[in-house]
Amino acid sequence: MDKIIVKGGTPLHGSIEIAGAKNACLTLMPAALLCAEPLTLTNAPRLSDIATMTELLESLGCEVASLQEGRVLVLGTAKISNHTAHYDIVRKMRASILVLGPMLARDGEAVCSLPGGCAIGARPVDIHLSGLEAMGAELDLREGYVHAKAPNGLIGAEYELPFASVGATENLLMAATLAKGTTVLKNVAREPEIVDLAECLRAMGANISGEGSHTLTIHGVKKLHGATHRVVTDRIELGTYMIAPVIAGGEVELIGGRRDLLEAFCTKLEAAGATISETENGLTVTRDGPIKPVDIVTEVHPGFPTDLQAQMMALLCFSDGTSVLEEKIFENRFMHAPELIRMGADIEVHGGHATVNGVSALKGAPVMATDLRASVSLILAGLAAKGETVVSRVYHLDRGYEQLVRKLSACGADIVREKEA
Ligand code: UD1
Repeated sequence: MDKIIVKGGTPLHGSIEIAGAKNACLTLMPAALLCAEPLTLTNAPRLSDIATMTELLESLGCEVASLQEGRVLVLGTAKISNHTAHYDIVRKMRASILVLGPMLARDGEAVCSLPGGCAIGARPVDIHLSGLEAMGAELDLREGYVHAKAPNGLIGAEYELPFASVGATENLLMAATLAKGTTVLKNVAREPEIVDLAECLRAMGANISGEGSHTLTIHGVKKLHGATHRVVTDRIELGTYMIAPVIAGGEVELIGGRRDLLEAFCTKLEAAGATISETENGLTVTRDGPIKPVDIVTEVHPGFPTDLQAQMMALLCFSDGTSVLEEKIFENRFMHAPELIRMGADIEVHGGHATVNGVSALKGAPVMATDLRASVSLILAGLAAKGETVVSRVYHLDRGYEQLVRKLSACGADIVREKEA
């Protein structure tokens, strides 16, 4: 297994190209199960999660061609040849549950293992399931699998999500495109990835309105067709690299960066001392004064994203005061705190709150992370820490950050990847 070694203290200067969004691509790919013609996705990120979704879709009969070194994916599902998403693949990635809605909508049957994924809380899929039930699906949970049937097809329904779950909104939106009649989904998630999915489905012939608002209205159609769609910019990769020059010093341009994808995050980053400017190609970020403390509450979009909480905590460890971070989306999402403490941070965690007292310096240490965003928060901390930080278990990073070492070292960071003995 590989490890990443960061030597802190070098300011960053240069530009970083932001990839297509992992989380958008992971929901756009299963949309290819909805029709017989190919779906072409451009601007796809090259990540292990995308490889896992490819493996899953291939196991269901979808043919996936990866072109332009993985930047373009052509997904053709002339026929779904197997309707079971097996535990072996699903356990690696929670987003696998997103094949359930499309398979059920197209063929009236689907079996899916209950998912695994990052170890951040219980993460049930009850909302996905009750929404599908509202659309007439018959569900049976046996031996860790959900067996779903809709022998006469799904039927349009009105369903209010008890919580604006991103994945449930995506699953139900895809399912509703082929349901008979009209589906009204209330209290849906409004993340940019949902808007991206709705735009792709519309290009495939779906009749959808309301994306980006609290209510989605979908008039079912008989059939969808092939389309070409460009995956939206990865706002979490963007936010992560926006923090890099604030924590390490310097000035970095984020190519393809868009402030409108991350307004709440940008406001907090500015409050912490960043200067963010829009350029012709994206955004530049720099910092002049000290890092200032900021209180953060993670919320559903357009609130502060939970997927940037760990990275922001790394930054606030260096502030000149006390910050309180409240995690409202996931329980148990402060696993990075003990590792940051090992580097000298002063953090106290009580339930869903973390109090971060800024310290004048962190010291590099061997650290290990248990999920994707926690891992990258340790890399960010390492960019500003004194000495050497060695981050193990980098397979988490490979799930969500394409060419992380190359992107940061191109800006002058002292960072290398090595094989671990
Ligand atoms: C997606 C993102 C993930 C991000 C999260 C929140 C992908 C592939 N992943 O995950 O990076 O952190 O949105 O922005 O897009 N919940 C239930 N029942 C359900 C579904 C969810 O209780 O049926 C709960 C979860 O346990 C969690 C919360 O709702 O506490 C948010 O989950 P959800 O919005 O569904 O996140 P994901 O789609 O899994």
